[in-house]
Amino acid sequence: MQTDIELRECADEHLPEVLKAQVLSFLRIIWPEGFTGPNRFRDWTSHPDLRPHHLLYAAGSQLVSHLEIITTTVSVGGEHYVVQSPTAVMTFPAFRGEGWAGRLVAAAVARIDAGQADVGVLTCGPHLVEFYSRAGWELAPGATILAGADGSTWISDDLLLTRSVGPRSAAFRASLRKHPMRVADEW
Ligand SMILES: CC(C)(COP(=O)(O)OP(=O)(O)OC[C@H]1O[C@@H](n2cnc3c(N)ncnc32)[C@H](O)[C@@H]1OP(=O)(O)O)[C@@H](O)C(=O)NCCC(=O)NCCS
Repeated sequence: MQTDIELRECADEHLPEVLKAQVLSFLRIIWPEGFTGPNRFRDWTSHPDLRPHHLLYAAGSQLVSHLEIITTTVSVGGEHYVVQSPTAVMTFPAFRGEGWAGRLVAAAVARIDAGQADVGVLTCGPHLVEFYSRAGWELAPGATILAGADGSTWISDDLLLTRSVGPRSAAFRASLRKHPMRVADEW
């Protein structure tokens, strides 16, 4: 039994099946709403169109903690922005409170900062705002997120946090004070 916990990083197509299965199982239990209707047999963690990049800690084949960075386009006030977002952030219960997810979020910040996105965004429940703020994410107070294709739009209950990355970040944040962020689908 391997007990050394190591940092690993890979593109979606290189995520080993045994680790992917654990991410998927975790997601199916914690976020069941993403696995209903046509997505009941979903076999992807984030849709491949979002080009997920995985950062994780594992002891051999046993997953300890994971996140993936997705890349997509959102619109605010009629302007389109390329965003990157950490999602599927998870630590298995036996390993919580030891800093694993915090270190993955810090690694994600470094990768997003070095990338080509206009801005970093993430959504979370109110209880995790402090956790992400510690890693350099800023709450966008009062920001609303409209998700879904036209005709199936809904307003997300989650809070929006952002991280300035490129030169358009300031315009994005200013526009967010007046307009909702529109996404094709929640991720
Ligand atoms: C959130 C989560 C990823 C944190 O993983 P972790 O490896 O324990 O994170 P760290 O050890 O780096 O940091 C732990 C901190 O997260 C915060 N935190 C985690 N869960 C929390 C909760 N339910 N309420 C309030 N704060 C919480 C606390 O600040 C905690 O610090 P503490 O241990 O000093 O109390 C993990 O609890 C988890 O998998 N939760 C279920 C899935 C989830 O909610 N993911 C986030 C989606 S945005």
